[in-house]
Amino acid sequence: MDKIKNMSLLSCLCEKTASSIAVTNPANDQVIGFIPSHDNTAIQQRIGLAKEAQKAWAKTTAKQRAEIMHRWYQLLMDNQEDLARIMTLEQGKPLAESRGEVAYGASFVQWFAEEGKRAYGETVPTPLADRRIMTIRQPVGVAAAITPWNFPIAMITRKAAPALAAGCSFIVKPAIQTPLSAFAVAELARQAGLPENLLVIVTTEDAVMVGELFCQSPDIQKISFTGSTNVGRILMRQSAESVKRVSMELGGNAPFIVFDDADINLAVKGAIASKFRNAGQTCVCANRFYVHDAVYDEFSEKFSNAVAELEIGNGLEANVTIGPLIDEKAKEKTQRLLNDAVNEGAMVSTGGHALDGQFFEPTVLTNVTHLMSIVQEEIFGPIAPVIRFNDETSLIEMANDTIYGLASYFYSRDINRVFRVAEALDYGMVGVNEGIISTEVAPFGGVKQSGIGREGASQGLDEYLNTKYICLGGM
Ligand code: SIN
Repeated sequence: MDKIKNMSLLSCLCEKTASSIAVTNPANDQVIGFIPSHDNTAIQQRIGLAKEAQKAWAKTTAKQRAEIMHRWYQLLMDNQEDLARIMTLEQGKPLAESRGEVAYGASFVQWFAEEGKRAYGETVPTPLADRRIMTIRQPVGVAAAITPWNFPIAMITRKAAPALAAGCSFIVKPAIQTPLSAFAVAELARQAGLPENLLVIVTTEDAVMVGELFCQSPDIQKISFTGSTNVGRILMRQSAESVKRVSMELGGNAPFIVFDDADINLAVKGAIASKFRNAGQTCVCANRFYVHDAVYDEFSEKFSNAVAELEIGNGLEANVTIGPLIDEKAKEKTQRLLNDAVNEGAMVSTGGHALDGQFFEPTVLTNVTHLMSIVQEEIFGPIAPVIRFNDETSLIEMANDTIYGLASYFYSRDINRVFRVAEALDYGMVGVNEGIISTEVAPFGGVKQSGIGREGASQGLDEYLNTKYICLGGM
């Protein structure tokens, strides 16, 4: 922590007590510090405070809210280096990626500061001469979120920024592995002038308790979750009782397709970026590679060579491009999937070993077939299985043969194929000749069991607004 300049970012740290929660560095298992734990009563009290604060916030103008949010954006960027170090310490991703995530996270604050001004209603042509019809957009009220450890800042700001811009208050339980980034972001919002109790962080190791509380509370009108499809299903079930609005950004099983007319060097570059970002721990990471028979050997060789050059280590060290996995469980899962694939006939082209601590070698598998378990499951680790295909029709069938529908990628230089395949892929997002497609200006989200709702873009604001119809009679 000695290199953090702005110590106010760490004001959440507390003494070690019977109930405090230890935050550890996945690169070396050392305890970074302790944070408070909130029990059910404390969280309910904070929901009550957020409810009260929202009433006044909803009465401010979008312009007033935007002014605070622009200051918040600026503070996030001014503190980019400190925030990145904190993130790498608790999450493990390489410093360059953490810097990138701070900028990505801040971009949502900047975007929604402006987008909040465009929460337009409508005047609607009336079917009856004595009436006038209009709609207005209003904040849903208190919005709650449960966010993951893989993007400790961006997954909070992607939800909090539209909520606050719309006039909602926002209460979030960040992942217990990465709470320091969450508290730091909230501290900067406070310094930017955001009134108290509008951006509330609660921390607890009892994820079940907080999930039930958020979903069942009559004071919360909206729940937004990023995480696994299994947990998303549970939260949706629990939200049914209070008929809560939900946004769910859930699991993925992204196909990455290389056609025979692709620029192979570009495809290799995109494959590295898409697969090995955050050591393979993102919902939009390429999960399975389908490569046309005519370019399979060339792609596999170039891809394996590039993967072999990735530098594994503590994300704080210069040149490191692959950090540790988040915990022992993640390492075990990666090992299990690798063992299963090899037993089913896959060949290790590069990598293939678990290393000391929570590190795992970035791995390329060839001779993989579509039905292997590694292709069917979301890997969430640094393994790239490469499958051979021959024709476009069966390729599309394989690519769509999953319960998931978040991101997909393909490489081709044939304009007809580009449109045909982009339209045929049953996914919420398609990257064409591009491996990293996330941006604040485009709607992020999935179809099928990858989720409901969109984040970012103008659609991201809709998730936190109700449309009210007003009928003026006796005109
Ligand atoms: C995620 O993995 O859930 C988010 C990735 C992104 O925003 O690019």
